[in-house]
Amino acid sequence: MSEDFPLQSQTPDSLMLFGFWYRALPSEKVKCGELLPAMLLEQPLVIGRDPQGRAFALRDACPHRGMPLSCGRFEGNQIECCYHGWQFDAHSGQCTLIPSLVADQKLKIDRIYAGSYPCEERDEFIWVFVPEPGPASAGFSKPAPAPVPAPEIPKFSEHYKLAYLTADLPCSVDHGIIGLMDPAHGPFVHQAWWWRTRHSIHEKQKNFEPIPYGFRMSAHTPSSNSAPYKLLRLYADADSITTTIDFVLPNLRSEVIRAGKYWFSSITTVTPVTRSQCRIDVVAAWNLFRWIPFGPELLKFVFAKFVEQDRRTMELQSEGLKHNPHLMLIDDADRPAKWYFGLKSAYLEMKKTGAEFRHPMSGPVTLRWRS
Ligand code: FES
Ligand SMILES: [Fe+2]
Repeated sequence: MSEDFPLQSQTPDSLMLFGFWYRALPSEKVKCGELLPAMLLEQPLVIGRDPQGRAFALRDACPHRGMPLSCGRFEGNQIECCYHGWQFDAHSGQCTLIPSLVADQKLKIDRIYAGSYPCEERDEFIWVFVPEPGPASAGFSKPAPAPVPAPEIPKFSEHYKLAYLTADLPCSVDHGIIGLMDPAHGPFVHQAWWWRTRHSIHEKQKNFEPIPYGFRMSAHTPSSNSAPYKLLRLYADADSITTTIDFVLPNLRSEVIRAGKYWFSSITTVTPVTRSQCRIDVVAAWNLFRWIPFGPELLKFVFAKFVEQDRRTMELQSEGLKHNPHLMLIDDADRPAKWYFGLKSAYLEMKKTGAEFRHPMSGPVTLRWRS
């Protein structure tokens, strides 16, 4: 695929990518013995935690007559539907009891499954693997294991702090993601006296390279016009600070900043909830400033400001998008967004034809823009 896509194919298509891990809910929201509804890629889920603390995720619709299982009861390792009392194993979704059956009715209940999803807990979030949906008429069967483990934030020391932030965005996952990787909105959306002003806009040059299912902004010294990085340089007493930013399908931006023995690392995801709604979750781990009282709170405060500015911007943008305007992606500032659409269509093409994944980048690229 060439790097010049016609404009049409660059416009968000709201398609959601199946066959990946997605963040479902913050761990702390899911208490032992409770059932919580959640939605991922327009699929209703019920999330819970067994008495041993292990999280699980089932489709939130009883295979009998569709009652949300989240309305039922959860005891031991069994979920009981509130309509006719069918019971299901919380992890496998296998049916274990149908109370209406009499002794000589030989229905093979162990062949009945409420759909269940691979579920793992990582860095304060419950992740759910969402496979390709089967044909609408087919019922559920035994769940297949996920092909890879859920993503995890890289950590570089034994002791660290961890914090997360989450915000609902009233737009499709595509707008959420290209908003996240867009370098040109910074001076206009993220102004603050302690961060940067609009007047600090200057020309930048960044190197990018292809990585499997994504691209990397190669290790570089961060923007000189931001105060926190200047501070970091002072405290870390390091000659150089490097940051690496990766984007990988379906929705994941990870950033690692290292300065001597100090590090800061984060994974931000934009998760499709429905075609027109998504959610941004930022989880960060760091060993910087561990000695500062209020360290995590301060960092969370700073991040919350940024995320709120982005959320507000996308809320305003969604008003304009309602009218289906023609959209443009320009070089070089919107090139990462073009790569995103290129990666996404390459993935869908691979799924459709079974052919090899055709990466939209043929090699390293240097991009230049002012921000
Ligand atoms: S709908 Fe769930 S048991 Fe009947
Ligand atoms: Fe932003």
